[in-house]
Amino acid sequence: MSWFAQAPSNIALIKYMGKKDTEQNIPINPSLSYTLSNLLSSVNIEEHPGKKDFWEPLDIPGALPFSLSKEGQERYLNHLTRIKAIFNHQGAMMVRSTNNFPQGAGLASSASSFAALTKCAVKALSDLTHKEIFSTEAMAKLSRLGSGSSCRSFFTPWALWDETTVTVPDIPYTELLHQVIIVNHEEKKVSSREAHRRITTSPNYPTRSARAIQNLKALRHAFQDKDWKSAYHVCWQEFQDIHALFSTCKEPFSYITSETKNLLTRLQDLWQTENDGPLITMDAGPNIHVLYRPDQASMAKQFKQKHLIGNHDVF
Ligand code: PMV
Repeated sequence: MSWFAQAPSNIALIKYMGKKDTEQNIPINPSLSYTLSNLLSSVNIEEHPGKKDFWEPLDIPGALPFSLSKEGQERYLNHLTRIKAIFNHQGAMMVRSTNNFPQGAGLASSASSFAALTKCAVKALSDLTHKEIFSTEAMAKLSRLGSGSSCRSFFTPWALWDETTVTVPDIPYTELLHQVIIVNHEEKKVSSREAHRRITTSPNYPTRSARAIQNLKALRHAFQDKDWKSAYHVCWQEFQDIHALFSTCKEPFSYITSETKNLLTRLQDLWQTENDGPLITMDAGPNIHVLYRPDQASMAKQFKQKHLIGNHDVF
């Protein structure tokens, strides 16, 4: 038998950075993300002889090549072991996975890949053990143990994650145009897991949760009032806040390069001249995510043609 599942990535506007519980991945503050339904991870699972689980890239005709480091494979298969233990199943499995977005593009793939693995493994194991399939909420909780941000990938178009619960908030912008501007293709030097650990030594850390909660409140109000410009300001302040945690901790690090700064300035100029523009955010990486409203499609196209084509990849 063979099982297949897919899950989307997501981009947080209010970020998950810092954990109350590192085993259970309980965040120090609520986070809010937009689901990126075009950026998908796919997983296929088959039963496998023997006792050991294996991972290999999933070969989809026409798809881009995909690989996982030894540590990446281990972390992925450990999550499968966790799910197998819940179902009390010992049989070995072959896991194949891939993403429909280029690897090394600096796009967070752990959210979509852990969500897709959780979905696929739950399907396979409930079939094999004749147990009832989990609810979406239960799958999100389980996925969170593998990768925190993956629990938001089970909900769309928006996901609000607080402690152990994810809900779909009512936000009047249900369809946005997402672009990620690639500043650096290289594998990040500090993983998000390491970032969660290092930031706890920043003098800004004890007050981080209060600022995130305040930003969340302000962003939800701005969305409710259809005040796009205020939403942009809150998103800006929010990503600057987590990047300041990175640069002020005991082992400081930064993802912001001179090219990132340059592009951010061009985006600010766009806002300045048009009194309008996209929401801008950055995760634990050098690349810039922008979200436009559907009525800004031609603005998005123009900005891309003028500033990005020939200089940066955009997905
Ligand atoms: O899920 P993790 O442990 O990879 O953490 C993700 C952290 C950020 O991407 C920087 C922010 C977020 O909320 O997605």
